Amino acid sequence: MDFKLTEEHIMIRDAARDFAKQELLPGVIERDEKQEFPKELIKKMGELGFLGMMASPEYGGGGMDTISYVLAMEELSKIDASASVMVSVNNSLVCWGLDTFGNEEQKKKYLSKLTTGEKLGAFCLSEPEAGSDATSQRTTAIDKGDHYILNGTKNWITNGSSADYYLVIAQTDKEKKHKGINAFIVEKDFEGFEIGPKEQKLGIRGSDTHSLNFNDVKVPKENRIGEDGFGFKFAMKTLSGGRIGIAAQALGIAAGAYELAKDYSKQRKAFGTEICNHQAIAFKLADMHTQIEAARHLVMKAAWDKDQGENYDLSGAMAKLHASKTAMDVTVEAVQVHGGNGYVKEYHVERLMRDAKITQIYEGTSEIQKIVISRSILKD
Ligand code: CAA
Repeated sequence: MDFKLTEEHIMIRDAARDFAKQELLPGVIERDEKQEFPKELIKKMGELGFLGMMASPEYGGGGMDTISYVLAMEELSKIDASASVMVSVNNSLVCWGLDTFGNEEQKKKYLSKLTTGEKLGAFCLSEPEAGSDATSQRTTAIDKGDHYILNGTKNWITNGSSADYYLVIAQTDKEKKHKGINAFIVEKDFEGFEIGPKEQKLGIRGSDTHSLNFNDVKVPKENRIGEDGFGFKFAMKTLSGGRIGIAAQALGIAAGAYELAKDYSKQRKAFGTEICNHQAIAFKLADMHTQIEAARHLVMKAAWDKDQGENYDLSGAMAKLHASKTAMDVTVEAVQVHGGNGYVKEYHVERLMRDAKITQIYEGTSEIQKIVISRSILKD
């Protein structure tokens, strides 16, 4: 076993750290306040290679491993979880999904633009009545020979209005249940595709989240991903990797809040000494650090499993479950260490606490992760 990062991993981590500090940090409070999407910053991240990290180089991707990706996700998320969710969706759901399951034409036409930041992607599975129960898709895709007609509504879609290409999951044959579901690439300007209102959110307020409506949207057959009926498997396989990205995001939120709390505790004085010298604070920091290290090991193990070609459904679900709980626990404690200052925006920890919550909800709630984990450990 070797817990050491390679030179290349360290370079990627440091590049993400520098970008986050220099480019994301300056406007992060304002973007959160105004629910502002950082369009220019996303473009820059594309130019620097953060949007298609694991995708094949022949389609403009970085050809990097999952370890590199989670290292970058952690660093970006320490500062700005709104930016990192866009990075996560574009990398591990959209680019990875197309790179792994798309055909040559789809990769040339769509993937090569998504890896460079020229275009942005969204992943559309959730519906008003199909969140955790993802097989209950109400959006329909009726087969009309050389095209499909899509009708329905998708909810809580990250990059909802900013994306250019949308991977949409829909039911073609209801009789066949999940085996009758397909996945499609929908372009923003396809007729009948409509972006619904923006959600007003508790956290990750700089990311744009919308509902989407499909009113008789004509989608060419060549935009279906994989064989007829592959859509649900496509969503599940893609989400398994996506969960590693969100676990890394949660880890980053926790680590960011911990670093702020530690620094603050070394400066702030009370009862004649820096507050880190009080056991009440020092023990909090000890607990935070231990939880974060445990989360980091789970995240790294899941990423390593994926890179080794091992099954990562279980390790990814465990990483997400634990890292997202860590993000909640640590950010709440980081606010507490900051006292009154923790409750105001300029100290950043209140935002990280609000941002942490979503990591227990999207890409499979903590309860869904427990379903995946328990089914996996009980099957043998
Ligand atoms: N890989 C491959 N296939 C899988 C799979 C996986 N990881 N998980 C399930 N499947 C397959 C099963 O093998 C089964 O196929 P067969 O019948 O051919 O064997 C099929 O999928 C149905 O599986 P289940 O019977 O287990 O289905 P279920 O109804 O019990 O649900 C579930 C399984 C795991 C709970 C699933 O519904 C689920 O993951 N729900 C959560 C959905 C989710 O994560 N949503 C997030 C939205 S995306 C998002 O948040 C993005 C964003 O913008 C940030």
